[in-house]
Amino acid sequence: MDWSETRKKLLSLGKGCRRDGAEPVEGSGGEFAICLDPGIYRRGASDVAHAPRRVIPTPRAASLCIASGKGGTGKSVVTASLSSLFSARGQTLIVDADLGVGNAHILQDVSPLKSFVEVVEGESQVRDVLAACSERCDLLAGGSGIPRMAALSDYELHLIAEGIQELESEYRFMLVDSAAGVSRQTMAFARGCDLTLVVTTPDLTAMTDAYAFVKVLVGKKPQSRPLLLVNRARSETEANEVSKRIQRVCQRFLGSAPKYIGWLPDDDKVIDCVNRRGAVSLLEPYAESSRALRKLAVVLLEELGKLHSAGLGRSLVDIVEYSRDR
Ligand SMILES: Nc1ncnc2c1ncn2[C@@H]1O[C@H](COP(=O)(O)OP(=O)(O)OP(=O)(O)O)[C@@H](O)[C@H]1O
Ligand SMILES: [Mg+2]
Repeated sequence: MDWSETRKKLLSLGKGCRRDGAEPVEGSGGEFAICLDPGIYRRGASDVAHAPRRVIPTPRAASLCIASGKGGTGKSVVTASLSSLFSARGQTLIVDADLGVGNAHILQDVSPLKSFVEVVEGESQVRDVLAACSERCDLLAGGSGIPRMAALSDYELHLIAEGIQELESEYRFMLVDSAAGVSRQTMAFARGCDLTLVVTTPDLTAMTDAYAFVKVLVGKKPQSRPLLLVNRARSETEANEVSKRIQRVCQRFLGSAPKYIGWLPDDDKVIDCVNRRGAVSLLEPYAESSRALRKLAVVLLEELGKLHSAGLGRSLVDIVEYSRDR
C-alpha cells in the first residue's frame, strides 16, 4: 500500500479553521503555516503584492492520554469528567482509543453513527466520524465489540493517525480514552500524546500493572514523564501510600518515577452517574469525586501548559512510520 499517496489524499481534504474560532497563536509551536498579515485587507491591491508574510506556527491541540495497565481502573469515567471540565476552557476532542470495545460514547450519552471501524474499512474519513457531545466537545468513537480493531495493521493505524492530524489544529485539547494494557497500538497512542495520566486503584494487581505500563512507556519513550492518579481510594492517606509504593518501585527499577498528581475517592455517585450515562462532574457537581476531579483538571491543565504540543496525529504518524521502517 502506498502510504504517501494515502497521505496526499487525506491532506488534500483541506485544513479547517479552529472550531473555537481562535486565531493561530504566534509561538505556540508545531508545523508552520503561512498567514497573511491581517492588515493586508485594508491596503490597496498594489500593496498586496508586496505585503509582508508572517510565518506563524499552526497551533496543535494539547493531548493527554488517560491510560492504565489493568482494565476497569476508571479511565473512561475520568476522561468523561475531564472532557466536560476541559471543554469549558476550549474545544475538546475525546478520542476513544479502546478501539475494539470502546464505550466513551456511553458516558457522553451519544450514539455515534460512525466509528474508527468505518475509517479502517476505507468507508469514511476520520472527520466524518466526529460526533458532537456538546457545543465544545466532540468524540471520535471506537468500535463496539469488534475484536480485530484491537490489533490494527500499521496501515490501518496510519489512516487513523493521518485523520487525527487533520483535526488537531481545530481543537485546544485532545483526550485519549485508552484501552487497558500495553498492546502495540495502546502504547502508540500513549507515546503520541504530550502527556500520559496513568490511572490505578489501590488494588494490588492494578498497582502492579501501573508499574508495568510505566515501564513499557518509559522504555519506548524515555523522555515521557507520566503522571499518576490513584482512583477509588478510601482516604488521602491510602492514596498517598499507593502512590509511594508505585513511585518507589519505578524509581528502583526504572530510574525514574511517575509524578503523583492526585487521587479520587471511591464514590457511589460515580457508579450512579455511569448508569445515568453521564460524567459525575456534570451530573453531580457537588459530589466528593467531582470536587476532586476539578482539582485534578486544574493540575492537568497546568502540566499541559508547560509543554509545547507536538500534535497527537503527527506524533502517531511518526511512530507508525518509524516502526514500519525498522
Ligand atoms: N471513583 C470511583 N468511585 C466509584 N466507582 C468508580 C470510580 N471510578 C470508577 N468506578 C467504577 O468502575 C467502573 C469502571 O470504570 P471505567 O469504565 O471508567 O474503567 P476503565 O478503566 O475505563 O475500564 P476499561 O479498562 O474496561 O476501559 C465504572 O463503571 C464505575 O462503576
Ligand atoms: Mg474504558
